[in-house]
Amino acid sequence: MKLSSAFALLLASLVQVQGQDIVLNAAHNSTAITGTWASGYGKVVTGSGFATPANASFTYPDVTGVSYSFSEDMYYEIARYRFNSNASQPNCITGVMSWCHGQYTLESNGTIVLTPLGDGYQQVQDPCAAESNFVENFNYTELITKWTIDQDVTRGYRLRLWDYAGSPLPPQYLLSTTPNMLPKTSLREVAIDPDSLVTQRKREINIARRGTGEHARRELGFREPDAESWVKTALNKIFGSSSSDRD
Ligand SMILES: *[C@@H]1O[C@H](CO)[C@@H](O)[C@H](O)[C@H]1NC(C)=O
Ligand SMILES: *[C@@H]1O[C@H](CO)[C@@H](O)[C@H](O)[C@H]1NC(C)=O
Ligand SMILES: *[C@@H]1O[C@H](CO)[C@@H](O)[C@H](O)[C@H]1NC(C)=O
Ligand SMILES: *[C@@H]1O[C@H](CO)[C@@H](O)[C@H](O)[C@H]1NC(C)=O
Ligand SMILES: *[C@@H]1O[C@H](CO)[C@@H](O)[C@H](O)[C@H]1NC(C)=O
Repeated sequence: MKLSSAFALLLASLVQVQGQDIVLNAAHNSTAITGTWASGYGKVVTGSGFATPANASFTYPDVTGVSYSFSEDMYYEIARYRFNSNASQPNCITGVMSWCHGQYTLESNGTIVLTPLGDGYQQVQDPCAAESNFVENFNYTELITKWTIDQDVTRGYRLRLWDYAGSPLPPQYLLSTTPNMLPKTSLREVAIDPDSLVTQRKREINIARRGTGEHARRELGFREPDAESWVKTALNKIFGSSSSDRD
């Protein structure tokens, strides 16, 4: 408790330091931010091969990771695949895959603002929950509070991003200076207002947890690809073989 509040204070002071106007300098410009960046060994990458927005589906990579692409005409795309573990239920690992794109601005105070186009979505698998697999709209403006580009001795150019709370994302390495991105237009019918979905889902959760995912799936026209849990498949792949290329 004491430790975490001290940490929160430290974070607050760091954020304040970041709040001072800084100019884009050598810490950002060892190379341009434009291109495709990916964590680990680049198994999760933006562009075709990760997300198929038209039917709100994903191609499941073998390992978790994150990938950001930035284009010269100020568009971005993000591909993310992560596991969340729950200390009170260590066996219940939740898998989240998410995809979004939109427009970005490099602010003079050293932040990046990512404004989505509205067609982002994410799939959540929670093998322990009553509703174990659902897809939902994902449309959040994201603030990168700090970013740097430096050079790793073996991996080359390395992009570091800090999220809205000041937490670092996994370091990403430059895969290509030409961004690998899906078309920079809305790629999916967004039939529902995500806010109303959230409210409805909250209401349904209050009544009974089962049914919320059904709702999301129905609204997004999502079809269950198969009964097998991709979280379990992925965990088997990771822990069954080598865990060295995990992030
Ligand atoms: C930096 O500028 C952006 C855009 O004006 C703003 O959203 C953000 O809150 C600012 N961040 C800080 C730390 O001042
Ligand atoms: C760094 O890059 C930014 C964005 O591309 C550019 O506006 C800025 O002038 C560059 N600064 C230097 C010192 O090269
Ligand atoms: C962890 O699991 C407990 C019990 O199911 C739940 O109440 C709690 O919200 C979970 N925490 C997170 C961060 O998911
Ligand atoms: C997505 O978020 C952006 C930025 O807040 C907003 O302009 C846009 O209307 C949203 N789109 C949808 C479909 O909700
Ligand atoms: C989504 O579309 C892609 C490309 O047409 C196809 O390969 C995939 O099987 C579809 N997925 C689902 C869940 O319908």
